[in-house]
This record gives sequence, C-alpha cells and structure tokens, in this order.
Amino acid sequence: MWYELGPAHWGQGYAVEATSALLDFAFGPLGLHRVWADCDPRNTASCRVVTRLGMTLEGCLRENWFLKGEWCDSMIYGILDNEWKGHHGQRTRAPSKNENEW
Ligand SMILES: CC(C)(COP(=O)(O)OP(=O)(O)OC[C@H]1O[C@@H](n2cnc3c(N)ncnc32)[C@H](O)[C@@H]1OP(=O)(O)O)[C@@H](O)C(=O)NCCC(=O)NCCS
Repeated sequence: MWYELGPAHWGQGYAVEATSALLDFAFGPLGLHRVWADCDPRNTASCRVVTRLGMTLEGCLRENWFLKGEWCDSMIYGILDNEWKGHHGQRTRAPSKNENEW
C-alpha cells in the first residue's frame, strides 16, 4: 500500500480515511490475508497513517530506494485480516507516539 495526496489536502484526515476504506475492501470483498505498506522513516505523517491503522512495524529494508539523489530506508508495516477486524471498532483511537518507534 502506498499513498500520496496533493499538498493542499494534507492534515485533514484524508489519508487515514482513504486507507481505512482500502483495508475494508482488501479484507472484505477481496478476501486478502495480509496487506503491507512501505514508509520512509523520515516521513512522520506517513508513519502516523500506518500506526493509526493499527499496522505493525515488521522490519527495515536499508537503503531500499534511490530517491532525489540519495538512498532511503523502507520501514515495512503489515496487518493481517484478523487484526484489521479486531481493530475495526477502535480505529479512531490515536496510538501513543512511541508505538511508531523502531
Ligand atoms: C503522507 C500523507 C499521505 C498523509 O496524508 P494526510 O491526509 O495529511 O494524513 P492525515 O491527515 O490522515 O493524518 C495522519 C496522521 O499524520 C499526522 N500528520 C499529518 N501531517 C503531518 C506532518 N506534516 N507532520 C507530522 N504529522 C503529520 C496527523 O496529525 C495524523 O496523526 P494523528 O492522527 O496522530 O494526529 C501526505 O502527507 C502525502 O501525500 N505526502 C506526500 C507523499 C508521501 O509522503 N507519501 C508517503 C510515502 S512514504
């Protein structure tokens, strides 16, 4: 799962709302077992999106992408179908900031 919004629309909850709908579709009609996301650890907003969704930090792929002239790590977050169904009723809860620490 990747996401990108136009800057005029940042900070209004759209990323969490849109990715929640995506996970509902993935674990509902599509019947998927696992969804993963790739976050640049320097991107606080992106990492907050996946922690708000209840995704688990599973690992770090070091210098996985070459972007804008430099190598960037990838933090891999995952969620399973049963975890999403358990998280579903609680997803308005904002996790504490340290849930995002590596
Ligand atoms: C990452 C991105 C999709 C977030 O979208 P968004 O709609 O602004 O996110 P939301 O409004 O749903 O906010 C999600 C969380 O991030 C936090 N957040 C948003 N912008 C932030 C910022 N600039 N700095 C710190 N935290 C931020 C919000 O407070 C929220 O956390 P909270 O629930 O704990 O308050 C958007 O910034 C974007 O498109 N960026 C450019 C592309 C990109 O970086 N994609 C990801 C590649 S790894």
